[in-house]
Amino acid sequence: MLTDNFGRRFYYLRLSITDVCNFRCNYCLPDGYQCDGNRDFLSLDEIQRLTHAFAQLGTEKIRITGGEPGLRKDLPEIIATCKQTPGIKKVAITSNGFKLPQHLPQWLDAGIDSINISIDSLDPRQFHAITGHDKLKTILQGIDMALADGRPDIKVNTVLMREYNGYDIQTYLDWLKDTPVTLRFIELMQTGDNQEFFDAQHVKGSRIKQNLILDGWQPVIRDKSAGPAQEFFHPDYQGKIGLIMPYSKDFCNSCNRLRVSSSGKLHLCLFGDQGLSLREQLQQDDLTPLKARILSLLDDKKASHFLHDKLTGATKHLAMLGG
Ligand code: GTP
Ligand code: 5AD
Ligand code: SF4
Repeated sequence: MLTDNFGRRFYYLRLSITDVCNFRCNYCLPDGYQCDGNRDFLSLDEIQRLTHAFAQLGTEKIRITGGEPGLRKDLPEIIATCKQTPGIKKVAITSNGFKLPQHLPQWLDAGIDSINISIDSLDPRQFHAITGHDKLKTILQGIDMALADGRPDIKVNTVLMREYNGYDIQTYLDWLKDTPVTLRFIELMQTGDNQEFFDAQHVKGSRIKQNLILDGWQPVIRDKSAGPAQEFFHPDYQGKIGLIMPYSKDFCNSCNRLRVSSSGKLHLCLFGDQGLSLREQLQQDDLTPLKARILSLLDDKKASHFLHDKLTGATKHLAMLGG
């Protein structure tokens, strides 16, 4: 079982399958961003060994991330490989949804359980200003298709930015009245090269939380498998709201996830660590050395990112690891 020195259990793996993205979200991939040029992403065989090793160590959920995972042609096979791994109960994906209506049937056939899609504004012009693309309508269509299908759990991610959506919370609330998705407002994080943008745009989630509570939103009781979002429901709304506040003091106490990058590096935390390569062990059919390496590396996981009060300290890996 994957347990760290602070008693936290890691049954959730976030697996990045590419660091390439076709969007250029202003907060995530500034103009001129270069991926590291390494296109030697984990193969399907390597992914299969990885998922088996993690599952044998107690992992029950895999979230596939990018860059944009939808750019990999073999994504349906990757989803199916994760889903067919004994011990894996849930396979999820985080995507920008650029071809959601087209991709959805294949993802569903492959066994996807949960889909998280970024929508940083519900205003088409703002959406274009943020992402550089006119895909809002297509993405919303895809979400409607997924809701009509009824199988996948749908969450929507919105990074809070003062000038782009900070004054527009009501538009989201109106949408949630009749749309049964969980919308998560995510506090903008520093990435190492967005300092000016961060200073100008960062909005604290706690402000939104206060207003939600005043408007009758009630906290969802957290179960032990709950992710980083604090969730709220309202009897008059079909949708729920989550707040992801990575700089808040207790954020890391409930950390339940490990990350592997598309080049096969284990990241113990989104902030700070450079990644520890599993590539050599991923070449062997015998999973014993791979499992031993994962277990021994976990020993170095720290209690927290320790950024709470100072609001500084960057994660350089957000785009590459898909959050
Ligand atoms: P589920 O609980 O499976 O829905 O996972 P999730 O909410 O973590 O998934 P998603 O990929 O949609 O993540 C949303 C955002 O939350 C990410 O893009 C990150 O910005 C943030 N996030 C998720 N996990 C962590 C974490 O461990 N640390 C930090 N700092 N941010 C995280
Ligand atoms: N701050 C917060 N969230 C970010 N994401 C990407 N960059 C940042 C950042 N600087 C999130 C997006 C998306 C996921 C892939 O990563 O909102 O939900
Ligand atoms: Fe691409 Fe996601 Fe980053 Fe936007 S937030 S540029 S969609 S990786």
